[in-house]
Amino acid sequence: MKVIASHNGLAAVERAWELLQSGTPPLAAVVAGITLVEDDPEEHSVGYGGIPNEAGIVELDAAVMDGRTLRGAGVAALRNVRHPARVAMRLMEQTNRVLLVGEGALAFARANGFAEENLLTDKARRIWLHWKRIRSELDDWRTPAADSVDPDVAAWFEKHFGGPAGHAKVGTVHVAACDDAGNIACSTSTSGHAFKLPGRVGDSPILGAGLFADNGAGSCGSLGHGEANLLNCSSFAVVEMLRAGRTPAEAGLEMLRRIADRTPRDQCDAAGRPRFNLWLYILTPDGREAGVTMWGPKEFLVADSAGIRRQACQPLFENRPS
Ligand code: GLY
Repeated sequence: MKVIASHNGLAAVERAWELLQSGTPPLAAVVAGITLVEDDPEEHSVGYGGIPNEAGIVELDAAVMDGRTLRGAGVAALRNVRHPARVAMRLMEQTNRVLLVGEGALAFARANGFAEENLLTDKARRIWLHWKRIRSELDDWRTPAADSVDPDVAAWFEKHFGGPAGHAKVGTVHVAACDDAGNIACSTSTSGHAFKLPGRVGDSPILGAGLFADNGAGSCGSLGHGEANLLNCSSFAVVEMLRAGRTPAEAGLEMLRRIADRTPRDQCDAAGRPRFNLWLYILTPDGREAGVTMWGPKEFLVADSAGIRRQACQPLFENRPS
């Protein structure tokens, strides 16, 4: 019995582990955990408080997959509903559809009684507005003087962009769990890339890209540059490598190597390292796990009978690309 999660999933791991121990099936445990992260207004890459798209509107992507039944579902570009993973789970339970987007996803959530609200918190709005003010010298926005930037906003840009005027993308959360019978399940939830094009859908709601689970081999889920997973079907490919006998770390690092080799040169540094980062979290039905990253350092979370702890992700490249 084990739960793993991305670095930002501590509340999710604690909840999922508690539920798993009391006999809750892995998928329900994982989604209950992810719901807590989606509720957290300070987690700006997921759910309520997520960083909005270019137009200032929060659009959420999420999916679930159950390795026992090999069923799963996702919702994409969902507005006004803070729990997209629960909506995806409901879609899987109630229909034979696998993916709903935009208005259709919202109508399905509404029909199922999910509350609607504005997901843009005041802090996320201020971060977005700062981004509009710094992103271009070609439009009418005037770049604020460095000493006039709101400290909350400056701290966010420092953490995610390496300074108040840089460029970066932000997180997502992934959680996976297996029980003692070898049933495995996982979920990924995100507000997607910060300031993305309206309607942009990443890897998180796409089975095989942002997550995959199969009791016969294992599960994989991801954070990072979703387009790389969409182009490489990364989560499905990792699970197939597990099926072929690779260890979780071997499968994850082989996948990152494959992605690095296939990344267009204009997205790489002179040494051929992708400038974007990507993390893969891998779990087998017998409870072996790994977290890998294109370049480190980063930790991931593990819960089992030895307790809840942080473990290092194994990097493909030791150093950040130049
Ligand atoms: N991996 C999350 C995204 O690209 O939206």
